[in-house]
Amino acid sequence: MSGPEIKTFEAPEVLKYVEKIQAVATPVFPKLASEKTGWAMAWIHLVVWNSWKSSYFYADKFPKDDFQHYSEYALLTAKFLIDHHEVEESDLFPVLEKKMGAESMSQNEAQHHAFLHQLEGIVEYIRSAQISPAKFDAATYRAKVDAILVPIMQHLSDELDTLESSKLLEHFSESEIDQINKAINKASRQGDNHKMLPFLLRNLPPNSPFPPAPGFVKNLLGPWVFYWRYRALWKYTMYPMKPILSDSPQ
Ligand SMILES: [Fe+2]
Ligand SMILES: [Fe+2]
Repeated sequence: MSGPEIKTFEAPEVLKYVEKIQAVATPVFPKLASEKTGWAMAWIHLVVWNSWKSSYFYADKFPKDDFQHYSEYALLTAKFLIDHHEVEESDLFPVLEKKMGAESMSQNEAQHHAFLHQLEGIVEYIRSAQISPAKFDAATYRAKVDAILVPIMQHLSDELDTLESSKLLEHFSESEIDQINKAINKASRQGDNHKMLPFLLRNLPPNSPFPPAPGFVKNLLGPWVFYWRYRALWKYTMYPMKPILSDSPQ
């Protein structure tokens, strides 16, 4: 994927954050719970990056009669980030702050709230376009993304520093961190598996170690069973199972 319309996603000030996230999202599954916290977070942040990029890319490329599916996908990308931050604020940060101090996660929350209003504005814009599809304008949608992409990517990078294993281990044992990881994993899995599993799998490179699920989930349930209910959406992901659209984002 390249071209002037995608330049916001290729700006050095954005890519420096993406590279930092990619460096934490290693291909090898970490052995220690304390290393898994930031590792899993980095992979989820790459889902945000890839899904936002593909939604932005297809904003002026979806087939004319497929706006409903494109807009559902675009909405999902924005809501995925909002939901991710809500789960962090309700189920992760308070637990960490109990031992690490109130200030330990305050920058993360401040960064969430700095772009929340504009993020909600993107959701509102897509929802209103779903009522009147003729009103959807790719340039308007992209301008709304342009306005917050740098602070979003900075946050997705900075947050990983606050979850470094050495910092966690100053306050928690490995078994305590294991419990925290399980709790945040469970809280993140609320919602429709038929929607969320294909969304995750199709927005990470094939054979990624994340999500750390058994082979039959990643190779059978995700791509085949859960794929079907919302299959019209998945052609807009970064890594579609089949290149259905002529303009592949890769
Ligand atoms: Fe996060
Ligand atoms: Fe966050």
